[in-house]
Amino acid sequence: MTTKRILLGVCGGIAAYKAAELVRLFRKQGAEVRVVMTASAQQFVNQLTFQALSGHAVHTSLLDAEQENAMGHINLARWADLLVVAPATANAIGKFSHGLADDLLSTLYLAALCPVYVVPAMNQAMWHKPVVQENIARLKQQGVKILGPAQGDQACGETGFGRMLEPTEICLQLCGTDNKPDLYLQGLKVLMTAGPTREPLDPVRYITNRSSGKMGYALAQAAANAGAQVTLVSGPVSLPTPEGIKRVNVESAAQMYQAVMENISECALYIGAAAVADYTPATVQTEKIKKHADDSVLVLQKTQDILAAVAAAKPRPFTVGFAAETQDLETYALDKLSRKNADMIAANWVGQAEGGFDSERNALHVYWQGGQQHLPMTEKTQLAEQLLKLIAKRLHEKNTA
Ligand code: C5P
Repeated sequence: MTTKRILLGVCGGIAAYKAAELVRLFRKQGAEVRVVMTASAQQFVNQLTFQALSGHAVHTSLLDAEQENAMGHINLARWADLLVVAPATANAIGKFSHGLADDLLSTLYLAALCPVYVVPAMNQAMWHKPVVQENIARLKQQGVKILGPAQGDQACGETGFGRMLEPTEICLQLCGTDNKPDLYLQGLKVLMTAGPTREPLDPVRYITNRSSGKMGYALAQAAANAGAQVTLVSGPVSLPTPEGIKRVNVESAAQMYQAVMENISECALYIGAAAVADYTPATVQTEKIKKHADDSVLVLQKTQDILAAVAAAKPRPFTVGFAAETQDLETYALDKLSRKNADMIAANWVGQAEGGFDSERNALHVYWQGGQQHLPMTEKTQLAEQLLKLIAKRLHEKNTA
């Protein structure tokens, strides 16, 4: 995105809650967002919502020494590449158009030298009031861009013009063509696994692998953003379901195997990012195992290798596996590539100072038949996109070979 720093002004209207989604969308486009709320906006949505979503304290007051010390209103106006006011009430529009500056947002409007976008939201009768229309015309003359409003049902029960444009529409209009999502996996059916599995010993105990699921979930989100139809078979993790994907929850390796096989048909790409247990207890006790002898022997049996089973399916999807290693990364990764008959293995070191388990960041060494690429340490969300683009390229090359 060309616009990097967006100052978002939120006024007091029922549509204020939608501005929260706008912050999320702007940030997804790579923008840094600072939020200014009017006093009445704070009656509708708690400023903590915007603080959490923007990652910065919300600016609310012109005459607060602490806020002014953190970033004075003139600095805040200079900081912005773009001022967006959404929702903009009739009151704010009236103040902007007449040069009144009796609170932080109206003062910022006067101080701002950057482009300004106003996104009105109000009752349809208010919108049609001649004085409001005059104010809008005045703002347009001053070079302000007006987005919307849309037509439809209103919170007050009436119907007509006055609804705030949907956040996705605002984002699309502001971010322009250079920010249209790159749908390089448009329509592709993708199946993924993520997270650990739990292999029960008895009703209260299980064997598991360390895995937060973050990498797999980032991949699922990136694939959905790239236009893929994603099914994510997930072991137990404490992560929200990525937007626009189908999530199938499982616990054990056997359940994961079954869920994968049930969802594999017509799938063009499989990514096994789950940390599947290689062994499971040979027997599961129905009652809790009691303490008796000093030593106890656990008999384990191999689980089914899901990745290898997918790669052996006919027809088979483009099959990508992961390898988390503490030593001989390349040797083990290449061994997995041939032994499991995968198309690609994404390998990463674990037990290092940075990256791997639970971390927000990671680096990968990606191997395929006759090639390899290093993806350096970065945020897992970024890394997921880089890996997916590499996968898409190889998949395309394989399909057109
Ligand atoms: O053999 P190893 O567990 O090291 O291989 C890791 C890769 O194989 C990962 O992609 C993992 O999801 C997959 N795997 C699997 N089924 C298993 C064990 C691992 O699909 N039972």
